[in-house]
Order: sequence, then C-alpha cells, then structure tokens
Amino acid sequence: MSHERKFYVPPSGPPQERPSPEIYQVMGEGNIFKMLEDFYLELEKSSIRHMFPQDMKEASKKTALFFVFLLGGPPLYHEKHGPPMMRKRHMPFVIDEEARQVWLNCFKLTLKASDVKYHFPPQHVDAFITFLERFSEWMVNTKGNGDK
Ligand code: HEM
Repeated sequence: MSHERKFYVPPSGPPQERPSPEIYQVMGEGNIFKMLEDFYLELEKSSIRHMFPQDMKEASKKTALFFVFLLGGPPLYHEKHGPPMMRKRHMPFVIDEEARQVWLNCFKLTLKASDVKYHFPPQHVDAFITFLERFSEWMVNTKGNGDK
C-alpha cells in the first residue's frame, strides 16, 4: 500500500572516505558553525523544513559539532553525544531520494562563494560535495513513491 513506509538499505554501505583535514585547519570552528547555521537557514526555507525542530539555529549547532570532526577537527560531537551512528540517528525521519535531493541542494546553495563567506578552501569544495553525495545516500532509509 502506498502509505506504508518501505524501509530501504542503500547497497553501497557507509562511506569510507573523509574530506581533507586541511578544511578544518583553514576554516576553524567559528567558520564551520557559521556555515552550518546558514545551511539550516536554507533548510528552513525548503520543502523538508517540517522534519526539523522549531529552533533551527540551535539545531545547527549540534550538527556543526559533527562537521567540525568530519572536516578534520576534534571529536566534539562524540564527546557530547557519543558514537555518531548517523544512519541510526536519522531513522526516526522518513528520508527518501527526494528528501535527499532537497537536503543536498540546500548544502550546495550554502557552498556558493563559501571561500569568501567561511574561508572554505576552494580546492576542496568539489570533493566535499562528492562526500556529501555519498554520505547522504547512506542516510536514505525509505523508498519514495517515485523511486524504483
Ligand atoms: C539525506 C538527507 C538528510 C536529511 C533529510 C537529514 C535530516 C535530518 C534531520 C531531520 C535531523 C534532526 C534534526 C536536527 O538535529 O537537525 C538531522 C540531524 C542530523 N544530521 Fe541529517 N539529514 C540528512 C543527511 C545528513 C548527512 C549526509 C549528514 C552528515 C554528513 C547529516 C548530519 C546530521 C547530524 C550530525 C545531525 C544531528 C544528529 C543528532 O541528533 O545527534 N545529515 N538530519
């Protein structure tokens, strides 16, 4: 039946590669927090806004802790919240391919002129987007009505 949630496990498994740690070295914590705050402002305007908490600025801070680690900084997220287990933590949310595309698009918008806005090292932007494409694939847990 179409209203049933069809759980989905991506065949590719979790991503193994990580973005260059140089990104954290250049940006530092403050710029990473600013980037995630802007990303959550994009999400706030998007069609998946309903999935997120009321206070988007507050929500962005928790996710920023994880990105500090992803981009080569200290494991602040792990210290505060324990093992990331991101796929498991996303399970309460219905994430299909369409939601993934909206999420990715919000990040791509945030990354425009990111060298100016956050000192994101421009030579690492493309690989970072590829990383987000792979990681977000792994967060998909539901077959959408339009998916094969
Ligand atoms: C595939 C599309 C994705 C959707 C629709 C999505 C949606 C969500 C939602 C609804 C939350 C809970 C609200 C919040 O805490 O902000 C969340 C939390 C989070 N997401 Fe995602 N997400 C996606 C992909 C990703 C990816 C690719 C990453 C990392 C590279 C990520 C990292 C996080 C983190 C760190 C949290 C906080 C987890 C916690 O509660 O401790 N998400 N996401």
